[in-house]
Order: sequence, then C-alpha cells, then structure tokens
Amino acid sequence: MPSNTSEVTDPARAPETMVSPALPARYYTDPQVFDLEKRKIFGRSWQLVGHESDLPRSGARIVGRVADQEVLVVRTESGGLAAYLNVCRHRGSRLAVGPEPEGKAIRCPYHGWTYKLDGRLVGAPEGRRIPCLDKAGLGLHPARVESFLGLLFVNLDTDAVPLADRLPGLPERISRYMDRLEPIGSRRIHNMEGAERQPANWKIVVDNYLEGYHVPVAHPGLMRLLDYRRYTAEVHDSYVLFEAPLRGKPSSNRLERLYQQVVEPMPGLEKSDRRVWRYVTIYPNTMIDLYPDHVLAWSMVPTAVDQVAVPGAYYGRAGASWRTRVAQRLNIRIGNITNDEDILLVGRVQRGLAISGYEMGPLSEREIAVGWFADRVRADLGKL
Ligand code: FES
Ligand SMILES: [Fe+2]
Repeated sequence: MPSNTSEVTDPARAPETMVSPALPARYYTDPQVFDLEKRKIFGRSWQLVGHESDLPRSGARIVGRVADQEVLVVRTESGGLAAYLNVCRHRGSRLAVGPEPEGKAIRCPYHGWTYKLDGRLVGAPEGRRIPCLDKAGLGLHPARVESFLGLLFVNLDTDAVPLADRLPGLPERISRYMDRLEPIGSRRIHNMEGAERQPANWKIVVDNYLEGYHVPVAHPGLMRLLDYRRYTAEVHDSYVLFEAPLRGKPSSNRLERLYQQVVEPMPGLEKSDRRVWRYVTIYPNTMIDLYPDHVLAWSMVPTAVDQVAVPGAYYGRAGASWRTRVAQRLNIRIGNITNDEDILLVGRVQRGLAISGYEMGPLSEREIAVGWFADRVRADLGKL
C-alpha cells in the first residue's frame, strides 16, 4: 500500500477512520470564493484539455479552457507539445477559437501577426511602419503542457511542479488502461461548445463523484451492477483511486444484463479487470473512469459560481473486437442514465446550499474523499 493512503474497505469495520469536515455552504455559493479559486486553484493546477490523439501531427492545435482563461496547445515541428495563452501580443485578439486547421504557423486573424509553433513572432504585416517592433520580445506568452498517460494537461503557472511528480504510484496502477487509446464517437475533451452543462458549482460535481454513499439511494442501476459493500476509496495526496467490483449476479434489467454478458477486458488488461470498475480523481477537477471496455476522461470546468461545463471523451483500445464495441455502447448508455441521475442530485444540492441558515453536517467514512477534497481546497484558498 502506498504511503499517505487511507482506505475504507468496510466502513463497519473501520470505525477510527479520520474523515475531514466538508466545506461550508459559502464555498459553493459565494462569488468572491469563485473569483479566488480562479487565481489560487485554476491559476496553478494541472488542467485536463485533451488527448494525444487530438494532436496527431506537427502543426495540429486545440484550445484548452482553464476556468475563464484559454490556452492554445500545439504539436511542434519536432513532435513535442507547446502551450501558449490564446492571445495575440499585438492588441489582444484571441488567436484560435476552436478546432483550427493545421499549419506551420499561428496567424492572428485580426491584423495577421504570425508566430512559429515555438511561439516566436516571425511576421507582422507592414512591420516597417511599427516603430517599436521588437520581434524577439513579442513571442506568445507561454503556459506549461504535459502528457500524462496520453492525456494532455496544461498549467498557467510556468513554475508548476510537473504533474507526474504529483501523482506517484498512479501510472503503475492504471497505465495498462491508457495504452493505445483512440476516441470512440465524436465527443472531445477540448470541445467546450459541445460540453454538457450542469446547474451546480464545480465542487459539488466533484464531491458527488468522490463518494459512493449516495449509490444505494440514487442509482438503482449501479446498485444492481456493483458490489456496494466492497466499494473502496484509496486517498493519496493529489489523487484518489476508487474500486467498484462488479456483482456476479445477473441484473434484473435487460440492458445491464446484456452488458454483464458481453463485457470482456480490453487487450492489455488483466483478467481480473473484467470484474471491476475503477475511477480516478486527480486534484482538483479531472476524472478518469476506467472500465474493462473503455475509458472516459472528463473535467469540471467552472463557467459561473453555480454552473459547470463538463467536457470529456470516451476512448477504447485501437482494434477492439465487435464484442467489446457492443459492451462499450451498452456501458455508455448505462453511464448516461447514471449521469442524468447525478445532474438532478447536484442541482438539488446547489439550490439547497443557497438556503440561509443551513449548516454543514458530518461526513460518513464512505465520504472520506469528500473530506480530502475539502482539505485540499481549504489549503489552496487559505483563510477566507
Ligand atoms: S491583434 Fe493580433 S495581429 Fe492585431
Ligand atoms: Fe452518482
């Protein structure tokens, strides 16, 4: 077992587990807290913006969203990655607005200032008429970008600790799921326009993902599929790993039963992976669902104090069998039903937290990861 780890295997048998208190309502409803988060959480954390498959060739580019900021991520000439604030150094136009054609340069659509993929300003129309044009000092503002198990993360803080250093032990646990993935369907992590919106503060949606305590009451389908008693949460400094073993008993629901019949592990997984769903949360707002048949990577991007966009994408192993493709379809449908149930729950919490006079109750040991997240947010925001 890795260090800094707490585990709840059977809450009834772990009465001494320390559970940190939840966040007070104000953290979810106060516009001042929301503004502070942009600087103190989103201004310096690693944010999921895409997948390696989104940048297949030199010159390919995507726009990543970090709270209300935008970052342009490009595949460089050498095949590496580079990220820049999505703003032109001339008079501040957004450089790109969404999926953009590939090319050897980044050209601003306003007056045509042109940058190389390495961020250098190389051209400005009628440059001789710009008296103080110092091209060398007018490169694009850099941001950090890293690929972690094929997922692309950016950080606005150029001094940030590398993401991989923050996640010791995680690659060993999940990399077999992340190899040779290609997108299933048309959803993409960087497609903010197509992202689902949920009527709640981003942290309510994270909290909801971080606990299985609501499953018996709110998700009848999951209760039929998962062995709730063996649902575990393993809490590390910057990530949480959940395991939800699947029940052997056939579900009474036809869709779920079909899934149980056809599911088999993707090539590269272990046989035992067929019988478990895993979930990962990387602080602060990245979620990775690891199923035997596919992977879902998604992020909670705040768009207002009481609204969040949830961009994400499904991935499967290249060359998956027809049987796996059927399992993927069935599982994604099951996931959509669960997701619809969750949207109602988080909206209800947002409305409830706005009722003045409410004081937060205690957390269950089943909610140990909600307490972990609250501690991390409190540490980042400091005294309010
Ligand atoms: S704002 Fe980009 S070239 Fe003028
Ligand atoms: Fe849920």
